[in-house]
Amino acid sequence: MGRRVGVVGAGYVGLTSAACLAHRGHNVVCVEKDKSKVDRLTEGTVSIAEPRLPELVSEGMANGRLTFTSDPNRLAVADIVLLCLPTPMGPGGAADLGAVDSILPMLAEVLPVGCVLVTKSTVPVGTARRIAELLGRPDVPVVSNPEFLREGFAVQDFLHPDRIVVGAAEPPAATAVIGLYLGMDAPVLRTDTASAEMAKYASNAFLALKLSYVNVLAELCEQVGADMSDVGRTMGLDARIGPAFLMPGPGWGGSCLPKDTNALLNAADSAGVDFGLLRAAVLANTRQRDTVVRKIRTAATGSPAGSIRDMRIGLLGLTFKAGTDDLRDSPALVVAAELVAQGAILTAYDPCVPLAGQEGLPSVHLVDDPYLVAKDAAAIVVLTEWPEFRALDWAQLAAVSDRAVVIDTRNLLDGEVLAGTGFVHTGVGKPGVTRS
Ligand code: UGA
Repeated sequence: MGRRVGVVGAGYVGLTSAACLAHRGHNVVCVEKDKSKVDRLTEGTVSIAEPRLPELVSEGMANGRLTFTSDPNRLAVADIVLLCLPTPMGPGGAADLGAVDSILPMLAEVLPVGCVLVTKSTVPVGTARRIAELLGRPDVPVVSNPEFLREGFAVQDFLHPDRIVVGAAEPPAATAVIGLYLGMDAPVLRTDTASAEMAKYASNAFLALKLSYVNVLAELCEQVGADMSDVGRTMGLDARIGPAFLMPGPGWGGSCLPKDTNALLNAADSAGVDFGLLRAAVLANTRQRDTVVRKIRTAATGSPAGSIRDMRIGLLGLTFKAGTDDLRDSPALVVAAELVAQGAILTAYDPCVPLAGQEGLPSVHLVDDPYLVAKDAAAIVVLTEWPEFRALDWAQLAAVSDRAVVIDTRNLLDGEVLAGTGFVHTGVGKPGVTRS
């Protein structure tokens, strides 16, 4: 049976949750304090680049199961309210709960008796308990039900999750939240609030550990003449390891992994637990960007110590991964900033980064055509694994470039496509360079 659900926050998590819950038959009101965002959504404009999200938003609005408002009083008839507010990295790495805290007095006033309040965005361990105290409404149980949505797959991940974790002190509150997901084919884990909150950080931090391990391993493969692709494939076939998150790259980024690893490190410090293992993974990720810049310098100049001053370098991809327009904490931008600091002249293309509104980009000349990236370039660097880069006319790129040198930090390019183009090709975790 459809429940009356309130969603607080129409950001990436809130909008996806609201649209998907409406799609699953619930009656959802999404409360967003930014009135212009509410107006845009009500007109049917979804500004988040997420497959299927605009369709689900339109569907929910058309059948009346999804509405947007900036009036919090609309929560007064909700059975369940999901908190989907941003928890950015605050000073010192801890999660900043300002947005959550500031809304609690209003919620204390409007939530109906017996409503279940759910934290959906990633919040530090102990937040559900803290919210319950600050709320001062013993009749409103606070439940932790963290999301595990990947950017670019948010709708898919919401509707077909690997698992659903519900942390609650009172069984009826847990049952109410589990009811939101009835009929979904996924294991449901019932636990206490602290464990559910920790499970989210633990998952993201583990992914970060896995990637740092892979990136350093790839560097070692290069030194000893092994091929990380084959090593990774072999590791991935071990069911205990699994094939995902074994691709080396320019480092892990985005709005979640860096923020959550820092928050977990901060929590460990506060608890007096030495989490040097995770600290090493974060350091390895910072170092990874230097490793990539050194690789680019080596390929472009013939020596790790060579100068790239006034050298034209073309960048393919700027977002933190393919399938998103998100530039937050993108390793590509860090690499670009370092190349600029070393005097390189950069031209960049990304299929999802428009030319307008990119004033914050680090001294990069953004173009809307990948072939312009290659023009007169001494080296081309693939920084994001956009599939369309594989299908470019690499012979044409070679023809317009100054020197046909490509550094593929994602191991995206196909040797067969490059063959015969004249490109000198450097991948990651591969023994040596390939002359095509
Ligand atoms: C991540 C988690 O994967 C989600 O489960 C989680 O819900 C989400 O954070 C969140 O906390 O909201 P996302 O930030 O979308 O999702 O990014 P990922 O797909 O995890 O990628 C993170 C980084 O790892 C990217 O920079 C990506 O390029 C890199 N990566 C990933 C690799 O370098 N190699 C790989 O094999 C996989």
